[in-house]
Amino acid sequence: MLNIQSYESLKPYNTFGIGAKARYFVEIESADQLQALLQLTDYPDVPKLILGGGSNLLFTRDFEGLALKISIQGIEVVAENEDHIFVRAGAGTNWHELVMFCVRNGYAGVENLSLIPGTVGAAPMQNIGAYGVEIEQVFKELEAVELKTGEMRTFSHADCRFGYRESIFKNEVKGQYIITSVTLRLDRRPVFHTSYGAIQETLKEMGVTDDRLSIKAVSDAVIRIRRSKLPDPAQIGNAGSFFKNPEIDTSRFERLKTDFPALPGYPTGDPAKTKVPAGWLIEQCGWKGKRFGDAGVHAKQALVLVNYGEATGAEILSLARKVQQSVEEKFGISLHPEVNVV
Ligand code: EPU
Repeated sequence: MLNIQSYESLKPYNTFGIGAKARYFVEIESADQLQALLQLTDYPDVPKLILGGGSNLLFTRDFEGLALKISIQGIEVVAENEDHIFVRAGAGTNWHELVMFCVRNGYAGVENLSLIPGTVGAAPMQNIGAYGVEIEQVFKELEAVELKTGEMRTFSHADCRFGYRESIFKNEVKGQYIITSVTLRLDRRPVFHTSYGAIQETLKEMGVTDDRLSIKAVSDAVIRIRRSKLPDPAQIGNAGSFFKNPEIDTSRFERLKTDFPALPGYPTGDPAKTKVPAGWLIEQCGWKGKRFGDAGVHAKQALVLVNYGEATGAEILSLARKVQQSVEEKFGISLHPEVNVV
């Protein structure tokens, strides 16, 4: 049964804990329910906002349209062969719950993506990634309902046009589809991604030697690293990295290195471009651990902006702008938000 509410607080539905309101709000528990909603004639022209786990969102004002909280659950193995297991999950499934399902059953490929907040449906939208793995590496396909027609469509890997924290759903078809399920292709035989320094160090601390490496050990290491650096949204409001790591011309990177010899840089696949950690740039500008009222820059990871309690979205955004400005002044580098500002 569809239960459309009015003037609902969105505070429980965004990990920043911002108390914005939605003019209309509805929770969707199946693709059928979604299609039924789209057939209702009362809401065709009302702007719609799709809420997954709300872990990549910053509300700066009330939302004057219809917010849809996608709560479609379920995890199932839909096919398997000698090399792979295909697992489909409802868009509203908690992402980490899906990762734990895979780890428990020995399905490899998502262990590096342990403990990322948010839901399965939101994961391909921004091609979530951590510690050397992005969801696109295990992505098979997804199903989505077109808002305009209510029709269901399947998107293959190629259709999704994945990039660094990018996909077609943030670009060409932004706001046009609601993802209802995602199918992943997991490996029976794990290929471990442990080259990331922090993972190696943590595995060592845990006493895991190469011959004892396992899907579970990598997942445990990632969980440990994330818990030590990233604030738990259940305790301190945040949306993970607020900005993307900028990619700059390699020639420019080399020149900056003469003024800032400690500046870290990572290859991007294109030798002409170098990725620079935004967290480092922000820390160098003196922002790490700074707090203004209830808005702040996390003390252990400068790329994460936090809401200590009652900060408004506007206050967080104003802090973000000041951070951008000072990085621009000191390094001549523009930072772009990774979170969606509504
Ligand atoms: N750094 C600093 N100071 C800081 C933060 C970072 O100097 O305050 C330096 C670190 O020393 C390190 C480098 O920046 O050399 C990279 O830091 P880290 O490993 O913490 O990763 P990140 O580049 O800041 C990215 C992702 C994270 C992901 C981690 C691990 C983006 C925007 N962020 O952060 O993803 O968990 O790598 O792979 O790409 C997210 O998207 O919400 C997110 C948390």
